Amino acid sequence: MLELKSIDLKKVKTETLTIPVCEDKDIHDDKIISSLIIRAKKLKEFKGGQGEEVIFYSPSGVKVSRVIFIGLGKLEKLNTESLRAFAGKAVKKCIKMNLAEVLIACPSAKKIKMEMPLPFEAIIEGACLGNYLFDKYKDEKKHSLLKKISFLIKPDETEEYGKLLKQTATICEGTIFARDLVNTPSNDKKPEQFTKLIAEAAEKENLKVKVFDEKELKKNKFEALLAVAAGSESKPRMIVLEYNPKGAKKTVALVGKGVTFDSGGINLKPTTGLDGMKCDMSGAAAVAATLITISKLKLKVRVVGVIPVVENMPSGNASRPGDIVKSYSGKTVEILNTDAEGRLILIDAISYAVKKYKPGVLIDIATLTGACVIALGEKISGIFSSDDELAQTIIKSGEKTHELCWHMPLPDDYKEDLKSDFADIKNIGSSRWGGAITAALFLSEFVGDTKWAHIDIAGPSYIRKGNAYCGVGGTGVGVRLFCDLLEKL
Ligand code: BES
Ligand code: MN
Ligand code: ZN
Repeated sequence: MLELKSIDLKKVKTETLTIPVCEDKDIHDDKIISSLIIRAKKLKEFKGGQGEEVIFYSPSGVKVSRVIFIGLGKLEKLNTESLRAFAGKAVKKCIKMNLAEVLIACPSAKKIKMEMPLPFEAIIEGACLGNYLFDKYKDEKKHSLLKKISFLIKPDETEEYGKLLKQTATICEGTIFARDLVNTPSNDKKPEQFTKLIAEAAEKENLKVKVFDEKELKKNKFEALLAVAAGSESKPRMIVLEYNPKGAKKTVALVGKGVTFDSGGINLKPTTGLDGMKCDMSGAAAVAATLITISKLKLKVRVVGVIPVVENMPSGNASRPGDIVKSYSGKTVEILNTDAEGRLILIDAISYAVKKYKPGVLIDIATLTGACVIALGEKISGIFSSDDELAQTIIKSGEKTHELCWHMPLPDDYKEDLKSDFADIKNIGSSRWGGAITAALFLSEFVGDTKWAHIDIAGPSYIRKGNAYCGVGGTGVGVRLFCDLLEKL
């Protein structure tokens, strides 16, 4: 439970209070908090530097059982992301200490030179996203989530920001739903199961849900998608979610890669890190969670989500390098590498979305290439779009949510690289170089003149080392980005 509070710490009993502290400036309006900080800074080990922490137990003058001070460093370096990280750290620390609730002191927007509600929103996000554990598969649950997170703000702010608190929490719930899907092991999210998890959650939020099973996929000739699924015992699916608010004119289509496990197929991947390929449905998770979330938020834009779901496995039935398939669009594709499977399922989903919905904008999101991780590392997604304005809008949303994106090039002449000797196009470039670009160019051949962008999240979708507001595993990247973006579109 989340709540806004404006209380007198001298009078009201509080279990745990956390205070963000800057090294060089007092960033609070509350006199009691400022005096607590002065006392903390008298300690040799705490000056408010980045990473410093200290706890006071039952300090005199206030009715607080413990005060956790968290250092933020210098004021000039402070930004919304450091506030997000502060709140995430505070919550995670309380979880580790087996506490049940926390009261987070919010700094004065004026003193940190930010405009409300930005700093407050960031603190709510950090707190909500930090309050997450994935321990479903552990018999012994060592910790539990905080039952209550309160935010200490000024009396006149409690009414103003109630709605923001709710909205922000709803969006974070979406991120957490996506994380849960990514963290679920592949043996428990085979295409049929994964589809059910999404369809049930979507129906609860009154989205229109249509699921293509294998029979319908065959009947409708989604042959590129079927070629990827051929090697698996688990039958493929395609989920179509529609959010249809009254009065909306424009349609935005979101397409998300849903490979529940990517072994590489006959082009089997090497052993190292193969377990991480359970994250290969992160795009699908982001799209599903976004639709569910915007339905809760009642956004005014019509959005359809198209989610192809397959497992990529080697077997006697698997597609072989050299196979040629006719995609849903009618174009033939030579599969020269069965590990370049994401683009094969995406082109069928994209072609379907374009044909059926004629969207004003289409954005696909996918853990598409290792090459993108080489180019941008694990914290930045690649944006590919011939529409500069759309790319910039996405990048702006990335800055706002700190789901960072970088505009990558889509040079026309690299398309040469995708020419096949035997089919209309081949599914990999002739060399390894620029692999994220050739993958995006491959997709671009199937969007027609639809305004389109592709987001490669292979890096940011999954982390091996937890950070301030996300544990090891799925990050749920894309949900906050899309929610911010859709509000603008
Ligand atoms: N799912 C992978 C991409 C990936 C890599 C996701 C690292 C997450 C982390 C994708 O299907 C893949 O295998 N891509 C190949 C393409 C190549 C065969 C052209 C790659 O990047 O090596
Ligand atoms: Mn692959
Ligand atoms: Zn893949």
